[in-house]
Amino acid sequence: MISKLFSGIIIMLVALSGVNLFADVPPALPEAATAGIKLFTGQKPFENGGAACISCHSVNSIKAAGGSLGPNLTAVYKQLGKNGLNIVLKSVPFPTMKPVYKNRPITKKERAGIISFLRYSSESKTNRNKGQDLFMYAAAVFAILIISMPIIWRNRLSGVRRALIKKA
Ligand code: HEC
Repeated sequence: MISKLFSGIIIMLVALSGVNLFADVPPALPEAATAGIKLFTGQKPFENGGAACISCHSVNSIKAAGGSLGPNLTAVYKQLGKNGLNIVLKSVPFPTMKPVYKNRPITKKERAGIISFLRYSSESKTNRNKGQDLFMYAAAVFAILIISMPIIWRNRLSGVRRALIKKA
């Protein structure tokens, strides 16, 4: 009875750990980043009418595919940092972006939102190697199964043996 209960608990733990490991929990999104996502994807227009970044850029944390004219910006925060990004969005040094934003400047608040979003995206899980993650999860679940197997097994065998002994 007690060992049955025990193996039941083990099975539940295995199931729960599986659920937990597979859950892709993103870090809490600051309010500014939420505004930044809307600007980036064009859900919310820029105050001065500049084009949405997604028409030329992709970011992995956004499911919709972006344009491919510009580089993928998932990890750009790590490369340029807050100040670097602020310069890019304020003085727009890139020839392809310049005509789009030169006469339609991005406001200070809008820049802060986009930078906050890019920071979130550089730290988010979607930026990590998915194959590697999946392998780690599979290995963890497998290890838990292996560890719990003898306990479940022993229980079952003793049940069969008991039945045989009864018959004999
Ligand atoms: C018309 C297309 C276009 C739009 C719209 C656009 N970009 Fe770009 N962006 C580019 C291209 C192309 C580059 C690469 C440099 C170049 O050739 O000008 C670039 C470069 C960048 C870089 C530097 C990347 C690096 O790896 O150094 C950042 C950051 C950036 N863009 C952010 C943004 C943000 C944020 C927006 C929205 C406010 C935006 N871009 C809108 C085309 C665009």
